Amino acid sequence: MTEFQSALDHVHATLSELREQGVELRASASALTRLENTPTVAKQAPEPVPSPLPAVEARPLSPAPDGSKAVRLAALRGPVLACTLCPHLVKSRTQVVFGVGHPEAELMFVGEAPGEDEDLQGEPFVGKAGQLLTKIIAAMGFSRDDVYIGNVLKCRPDMPPGESGNRKPKPAEMATCLPYLRQQIDIIQPRALVALGATAMEGLLGAVEPMAKLRGRWHDFHGIPLMATYHPAYLLRNQSLTEKRKVWEDMLLVLERLAKPITEKQRGFFLGKG
Ligand code: URA
Repeated sequence: MTEFQSALDHVHATLSELREQGVELRASASALTRLENTPTVAKQAPEPVPSPLPAVEARPLSPAPDGSKAVRLAALRGPVLACTLCPHLVKSRTQVVFGVGHPEAELMFVGEAPGEDEDLQGEPFVGKAGQLLTKIIAAMGFSRDDVYIGNVLKCRPDMPPGESGNRKPKPAEMATCLPYLRQQIDIIQPRALVALGATAMEGLLGAVEPMAKLRGRWHDFHGIPLMATYHPAYLLRNQSLTEKRKVWEDMLLVLERLAKPITEKQRGFFLGKG
């Protein structure tokens, strides 16, 4: 079996599983036709989980990168890197950006899609927004190697000829790619997920709402607690203490949910003098 065939089989299996569970999928008719000749399109967002919620049980982080999760993630990587489900993105991408971090991470961050820097380097969140995310992760008491970082869409969205910058991924692109993220999450089984930005929330839950309404409370992604917060690129555009504090309060909720000790200093970040 070729890597491509095996990637398709993974996607088919995930789609059937979701459909069996009564989850309807949203994607462009052409994307679904390519996948399985089934043009059904719809979306269903799971109910948000009311906050506050009890902390989830702590799990020791294995230092060994060769556990079964690492093996399963490595097995998934090949087919994902060879994916050709979105021919327009295959044409424009430098490479597929799979994801990075600890296979047994307790905490996983999910962004929308690679940008130019990530497309060139093959790693999520390495550009300016990524550097800010790394600082946020450090302020929480983790390193990038402790957590897992991925995107809903694994290819950089293509840009019109002659245009630079990054565009938002389309719902159909995210729906086509989502089964890969679901498999990553199923393998890693993080104790909490953080969606970075409204587009990531749209890709994960089909939640088309402003971040102001989504952030600061727990949602549910197939049984895993999901916190929504602003994308770090938003914080780069809005450098006010108030907005930084909002993201930080969301991260404090995450730390509480993970039952991590929080210092007084951490509690006070971005209050007053910042
Ligand atoms: N923005 C994202 O959403 N993901 C990245 O990997 C980089 C920037």
